[in-house]
Parts: sequence; structure tokens; C-alpha cells
Amino acid sequence: MIDPKLLSEKFTELYNREPRIFRAPGRVNLIGEHTDYNGGFVLPMAIDRETAMAIAERSDRKIRVHTVNFGETAEFDLDEEKPLRKGFWLNFIEGVARILERNSVKLKGADIILWSDVPTGAGLSSSAALETVTGLALSETAGFSVDRTLLAKIGQQTEHEFVGAKVGIMDQFVSANAKRNHALLLDCRSLEFENVPLDLRETAILICDTKVKHDLATSEYNTRRSECEEAVRILKQFLPGIEQLRDVSVAEFGKYKDNLPDVIQRRAKHIVTENERTLKAAEHLKQNNLNEFGHLMFESHESLKNDYEVSCAELDLLVEIAKTRKEILGARMTGGGFGGSTVNLVRRENLAQIIEEISAEYEKQTKISPTILIAEPCDGASEVNSN
Ligand code: GLA
Repeated sequence: MIDPKLLSEKFTELYNREPRIFRAPGRVNLIGEHTDYNGGFVLPMAIDRETAMAIAERSDRKIRVHTVNFGETAEFDLDEEKPLRKGFWLNFIEGVARILERNSVKLKGADIILWSDVPTGAGLSSSAALETVTGLALSETAGFSVDRTLLAKIGQQTEHEFVGAKVGIMDQFVSANAKRNHALLLDCRSLEFENVPLDLRETAILICDTKVKHDLATSEYNTRRSECEEAVRILKQFLPGIEQLRDVSVAEFGKYKDNLPDVIQRRAKHIVTENERTLKAAEHLKQNNLNEFGHLMFESHESLKNDYEVSCAELDLLVEIAKTRKEILGARMTGGGFGGSTVNLVRRENLAQIIEEISAEYEKQTKISPTILIAEPCDGASEVNSN
């Protein structure tokens, strides 16, 4: 977590006045992968890694940002739209600002310092954390209190328009709405959600970062989206009421699946079964049936690997290693895939030794040293006191 006092001191040193401090967390998805853009269900939790923003208004309409992580400063003017620099970190902030203004949130210029401890490229939604904290901080500084659902939608829209990734709503939504010691069950169509208690006294959530990120991630993500849409187009002939794969039950899928070409059939099978697994998993969590919850995590991984084909050798290896440890109740890839991390539900006894063993085995087989962290379920975005 970022020390708000230290961040505040850095701000005063750089800009000569006192800031307000906001933060938003990264996330790990426990189950419900690639279901969000199919109108389905997801069960993520916010993690104790966050992006913090120190901010104070200016008298003009410039947004000037210094990032501690990159040691860089950059700015843009709210009244002047210039072409974006491709892949530039400032685009996230500019995107959120412009979309807020389009939503009638008239902003003020601001001086900002950003500081994050969400690992990048690990599938833990460092960009969603950045978008969410930006939305909250800019709107609050201008005197607006923006609804959390709108905040999440603005972050998602920023990805679509300013980053070029056609992501779903999960990451931004959980970063905005999570609750400490809870996972969040989200219906990605209605955006109704439930904070489900996550009792981690006897088990822990372990995140294992493969440390690889294959180039395919964005292009394949967008391809999966179109494959799902294609499945809906075909299945609509038999099930005219459906709008998204969310509307297809496992039984209906079984009845009509042979009308789909092989690849499309496997993509749709993942989504339809994953939605069912996610709802079951949430029930198991409520009953504290962690063994059953773990089984569903393993099943989810198999489905992502074989049918949705978004895993990779490194993620599969970490899941295989997990299967050999009796203390690990479940493991699966988390997030978009093609690298990034696995999420593991692990009994707390011998935790340090298990971490050691996973690390050694992964390194032996890949020559890469993984990063493993124990994640705590945290609150969504908030303002923090820096005193
Ligand atoms: C990325 C996207 C999310 C979601 C996941 C896969 O994290 O940002 O919207 O689609 O992939 O579940």
C-alpha cells in the first residue's frame, strides 16, 4: 500500500501546497473469466495493491501529472485536444478527464502526483486502478460526487477509446465498489452486485505472477469477443430471445451446440459453463464450502485452457504445480490470460513453505523467478487522510 503521508510530503515539496489524497485498488478475479463482456457473472476481489493520487486544484484548466513510478511529468489542457501519443501513460488520465466532461462533470485544472504499487503486466488491473482513482480524484476536486457505476463505466470507456482494448466492466467496477474482507459478485448486464464475505482466517489467496506477457493478449482478446458474438448470431436462429451468451443455459447449449463450428462451439461452451460455475462458486463461498470452491477454480482453468484457449504454458505449469500440493484447494489463471498471474486458494498452514516450493519448481522448469504475493480483500476506491 502507498504511504499517504509520504505522498502528501512529496506533493508539498513539488507543488508547494497541501493535496487531497485518493486511492483505488487493483484486483484479482476468483472466478468468472471472460464472462463480463458476455453479460455474465464475475467474482473478483480488490487487492491490497493500489494506485494513489495526490491532487490540488489549479486556477487554469491544465492537468499536470508527475508519476513517481516513471519519474516523469506531463500535462494536457482540458480546453485543448491534441493527438495522443500512442502507448503514453498520460492517455489514461486524459481519457478519464475528457469522458467525465462529456458526462457533464465540469472539471477544474489540477496538479497531481501518482504513485502505484500494483504490479504492471501481471493481470492485476493496474490500469483499472489508475482510471478509477483518476475519475474519483478529478470529480471530487471539482466538487462532484460521481456515482460508482458511472465511474466504472468511464474507466471502461477510456480503455475502449483511449487505449484500444475492448474490455468488459469487471476491473473498473470492482476497483470502485469492492468491500474489505469480501469478494464481489457482479451481474455484468444489470450491474447489480453483492459483496460476498470472504473469510480468510484459515485459507489465503495467493497470486503467482508468471512474469510473462505474450504479445497476443490484446488482439486475441478482441478476437474472443467477436467469436462470442458470432456464437450468439448462430444460436439466435434456435433461441430467438437471446442477446448475449449470458442468456443461454447449459441445457440449451447442449441442445443446439452442434450447429456451431468447432472453434465457436468451444468458445461458447466456456462462457456458458463459466457463468454456471461462477454462480455455484458464490454459493459455495457463502456456505464456506472452500473445497468445492477450489474444484470449480480448477475446472475454470481447464475450460480457459482447452475451450477458450487464453492460457499459456507458464500459467498451465503453475496450475499443475498447484495440483500436486494438497494444501492448495484450487488454482486458475486470472484476468485476460496469455501470461500474467494465477490465483490460488490455499490452506494457511505451511504457507511460507508452499510459496517456497512453488517458486523453486516454477523456476526450475522455466528459468524465471515468479513473484508470489498473499492478497487481502480490500475496499474499493476512497479518499484517505494523510495525517
Ligand atoms: C481483462 C478485462 C476484463 C475481463 C478479463 C477477463 O481483465 O479487462 O474486462 O474481460 O480480462 O475476464
